[in-house]
Amino acid sequence: MDLLLLEKTLVGLFVATILAVIISTLRGRKFKLPPGPFPVPIFGNWLQVGDDLNHRNLTDLAKKFGDIFLLRMGQRNLVVVSSPDLAKEVLHTQGVEFGSRTRNVVFDIFTGKGQDMVFTVYGEHWRKMRRIMTVPFFTNKVVQQYRPGWEAEAASVVEDVKKNPEAATSGIVLRRRLQLMMYNNMYRIMFDRRFENEEDPLFQKLKALNGERSRLAQSFEYNYGDFIPILRPFLRGYLKICKEVKETRLKLFKDFFVDERKKLGSTRSSDNGELKCAIDHILDAQKKGEINEDNVLYIVENINVAAIETTLWSIEWGIAELVNHPEIQKNVRDEIDTVLGPGHQVTEPDLQKLPYLQAVIKETLRLRMAIPLLVPHMNLHDAKLGGYDIPAESKILVNAWWLANNPANWKNPEEFRPERFLEEEKHVEANGNDFRYLPFGVGRRSCPGIILALPILGITLGRLVQNFELLPPPGQSKLDTTEKGGQFSLHILKHSTIVAKPRSF
Ligand code: HEM
Repeated sequence: MDLLLLEKTLVGLFVATILAVIISTLRGRKFKLPPGPFPVPIFGNWLQVGDDLNHRNLTDLAKKFGDIFLLRMGQRNLVVVSSPDLAKEVLHTQGVEFGSRTRNVVFDIFTGKGQDMVFTVYGEHWRKMRRIMTVPFFTNKVVQQYRPGWEAEAASVVEDVKKNPEAATSGIVLRRRLQLMMYNNMYRIMFDRRFENEEDPLFQKLKALNGERSRLAQSFEYNYGDFIPILRPFLRGYLKICKEVKETRLKLFKDFFVDERKKLGSTRSSDNGELKCAIDHILDAQKKGEINEDNVLYIVENINVAAIETTLWSIEWGIAELVNHPEIQKNVRDEIDTVLGPGHQVTEPDLQKLPYLQAVIKETLRLRMAIPLLVPHMNLHDAKLGGYDIPAESKILVNAWWLANNPANWKNPEEFRPERFLEEEKHVEANGNDFRYLPFGVGRRSCPGIILALPILGITLGRLVQNFELLPPPGQSKLDTTEKGGQFSLHILKHSTIVAKPRSF
C-alpha cells in the first residue's frame, strides 16, 4: 500500500470518527432505534458480531435482543426481523415502505446499479420489469408450455445415471448432472435452447461465470469496504474482478444467446405459429422502447442466478434429506407406485395427486431454506416498525428461516418430518399464506418463480425416487449436511456423492 493512501485513510478515519460520534449523538436524541448491541464509532457493531451474519447467528442475536434489533455495520444500518407479526408488517402491511432493495458495492456492479429487476428499488422501473417478465416466465401457460421439456430433462438424467456403472456402486456427485438439467430447464424457457451434455464448452463457460458471480456476490470478504467507505480503496482489486466477471458474462449472454435469437427472429415470418420463448417477449418490449438492451441482459442475468441456483440447491437439499431418511424416501416411492402405478413416470399434472411428495418438498424448503433471509429489503424513507424508528435506507432482513424453525411456533422444528404438512400444518402452503413459513417470501417482492420452482422440484425428486434407491456412498451411514451460508443464501457445503441403485419395474 502506498504511504499517501495510508495517510489519507488515517485522516479519513479520524474525521469519520468525529462525525460518527456527532451524528450518533444527534440521532440518538431524535430516533427511538430498535435495541441491539452498543455500537462503537466507525465500526459500529461489526467487530462484535463479525462478518458471518447467517440465519443461525442472527437467530442467536434475536434471542438476546428480541424480534427486532438493529446492527450498525460501519455506516450501514441493518435491521433484523424475527417474528411472524413483524414479517407481516415488513412484507405486507408496510409492503410499499419496505419494498425496496439494498445493494452494496458488489451488487451495484452485477446489476448495473439496479437496472435489473431483483435488486432495483420499489418504483416505476421495478413495476415495468416485473410486468414485462410475467407473461414470458411466471404464468401457468409457461408451466404448461415447458413441462414436457422438464419431464424430458428429468428422464434424461435418469437415463444417464442408469448408464453410469459407478452410480450404483461407489456413487456419483449427482448434483453435477442435475445442474445441467436445471440449466436446460431454464434455457429452454429463456432461449428455446439446451445443452447436450456436461462437456458442452458453452455450458461450461456459463456455469463457471455464474458460479464466480455467485461466489463474489455472496462472499463476506468485501464487507469491510462496503461497511466503511473510507476503506473502499482497498477493495479495488476485488471490484475489478467483479467488473471483469460481469462484463464477460453479459457479453456471453448477448453474443451467444440474445443475438442468436434475434437472428433467428429476423429470418422467420412473424405469424408462422411458432411458440415464442421468453427472450422473444422481452425483445418485443425492447422494440417497443419500454426497456433498453442493458435491461434485457440484466433480465437474463437475474434468471441465471435467481432461478437456476436456488432451485438446484433445493433439489440438492431434498436429495440429502431423502438419503438420510430412508423411511421417508420409501414413503415417497410407495406413494408414487400406489397412486400412479409402478413404471408410470411422474409428470407435472400428477403432482397434485402426490401429497406426500409435496410435503417432502415443503419440509425441505422449511428446514433448508435456500434464501433463509429473503433477498434483503430496504426502506427508502424513514419509517416505523414495531414501535421503533427505522432510519431511511436501512437494510431489512427477515429471518424467514427462524420463523419456520422456531420451536415456539413449530413442533420439533429440528426434525425433518414431512408428515407435519399433512397433519398439524396441513393448511400451510409455500405461497406465504402463513407468516411462519415464507420460503419464497410474500407480498410485492415475493418470488414470482414459485410457479416454476415447485413443479420442477416435484418432477425431479419424484422421478429420482421412483427410479432409484438413493443411498450414501459405501462406508458412510449419512450424508454430511453442513450448511454454507452467504450474504443471504444457504446451500450444502459439500456436494455429496450419492449411490443411485436402479429399480426394476
Ligand atoms: C426453490 C427455488 C426458489 C426459491 C427458494 C426462491 C426464493 C426467493 C426468495 C426468498 C425471494 C425474495 C423474496 C423477498 O425478498 O421478499 C425471491 C425473489 C425472486 N425470485 Fe425466487 N426462488 C426460487 C426460484 C426462482 C425461480 C425458478 C425464478 C425464476 C424463474 C425466481 C425468480 C425470482 C425473482 C425475479 C425474484 C425477485 C422478485 C422481486 O424482487 O420483485 N426464483 N426468490
